[in-house]
Amino acid sequence: MDKMVVIGNGPLKGTVAASGAKNAALPILFSTLLAEGNHIFTNMPKLKDIESTAELLQSLGCETKWVGDEFHVNVHRPQSFEASYDLVRKMRASFLCMGPMLAKYGEAVVSQPGGCAIGSRPIDLHLDGFKALGATITQKEGYVHAASPKLKGGTFLFETVTVGGTENVMMAATLAEGVTVLENAAKEPEIVDLAEYLNKMGAKISGHGTSVIRIEGVKELKPAKHSIMPDRIEAGTLLIAGAITKGEVTVTKCVPAHLEALILKMREAGFKIDTTKDSMTVYPADKWEAVDVTTAPHPLFPTDLQAQFMALMTVANGTSVITETVFENRFMHVTELTRLGSDITPKTRVAVIRGQPGKLTGAPVMATDLRASASLVLAGLIAAGETVVNRIYHLDRGYEKLEDKLSALGANIRRTE
Ligand code: UD1
Repeated sequence: MDKMVVIGNGPLKGTVAASGAKNAALPILFSTLLAEGNHIFTNMPKLKDIESTAELLQSLGCETKWVGDEFHVNVHRPQSFEASYDLVRKMRASFLCMGPMLAKYGEAVVSQPGGCAIGSRPIDLHLDGFKALGATITQKEGYVHAASPKLKGGTFLFETVTVGGTENVMMAATLAEGVTVLENAAKEPEIVDLAEYLNKMGAKISGHGTSVIRIEGVKELKPAKHSIMPDRIEAGTLLIAGAITKGEVTVTKCVPAHLEALILKMREAGFKIDTTKDSMTVYPADKWEAVDVTTAPHPLFPTDLQAQFMALMTVANGTSVITETVFENRFMHVTELTRLGSDITPKTRVAVIRGQPGKLTGAPVMATDLRASASLVLAGLIAAGETVVNRIYHLDRGYEKLEDKLSALGANIRRTE
């Protein structure tokens, strides 16, 4: 199993480009099931999760291939409308094939998802949304069956803000009869990117990016071409990599407007950060202050950057409190960070981090989920000696060539078996 070996090597310096966003690419790839024919994507990140999605689409009769820098998905009517346990368990987002299949073919059978072990992560709101559009839902033997000869538009209020739930129900509503209104919808930029692709296919969606999305059902969608938006979480991770090493790093091909909450907190901690429309630069700070952070749905501080920000706070001046409100079990990186010498007390949803500038030392650690892995690499960049991050397959799910990008900035990082 691959490991990442990181040796603290001083400040990072240089320019690095963000890749396409995993969390936009996944729902967009599943949305192809709404329209038979050839869909073409650019800026598609080369990631394990994209491979898993391609595998699932293939199992549903699609052909997927790279043509130079383009990723093509050729969609045909599936032989069966079942997404198997073996494929869905690898990646929770696989459940997003349900909305499109249900809308297009009137039927979908999808295994209940697995994915990152960061809390129970139910799918009840996806299912309630489908029911509001007239679908019948039954669950047996670990599979969810959804059926409806023709979905009908309706109003649905999400009890909790859910990114995947909003995406799944929004996709289903594109082909429903009449108008659907989704209230308390997620406002994440990835939802906007998905809605833009759906509209390119002929859907009539408005209000995406706000908490009320209106979808006027259409009879048919057609394949289109789209460039996947930049990955804000990867971009934020790279910015923190510059900051934590007291380096000067410019991240290009990103949208700083998507990262306002992170930039605000980093500035509050004392970092100087310049932004343009599509790039951001962090400048070296000798020391930085501890700041408190609470995760919440967009545009507030993203849960997907909580672990990386915690790494930054372990070497801040003073004590910070990080509160996780999105997932109930997202502090698994804490025990691993303490192996590197961090002083952190985790409670159920709150962690108290007593910053100790210059105190981290290398150790073997275990990656537990995708973003936790990134936080361990960040801590490894400044720990004295060697940090070995085990189980980095988690990292490969969501970061494209992270070791190459960090090496190009001057990090001493390599992958070994
Ligand atoms: C997506 C992102 C993930 C990110 C998360 C929150 C993708 C592929 N993944 O995950 O990286 O961390 O958004 O920004 O885009 N919930 C329910 N019932 C449901 C659905 C969700 O109670 O039916 C709860 C979850 O348990 C969680 C909260 O809602 O506490 C938010 O989850 P959700 O936004 O759905 O996360 P994902 O879409 O799975």
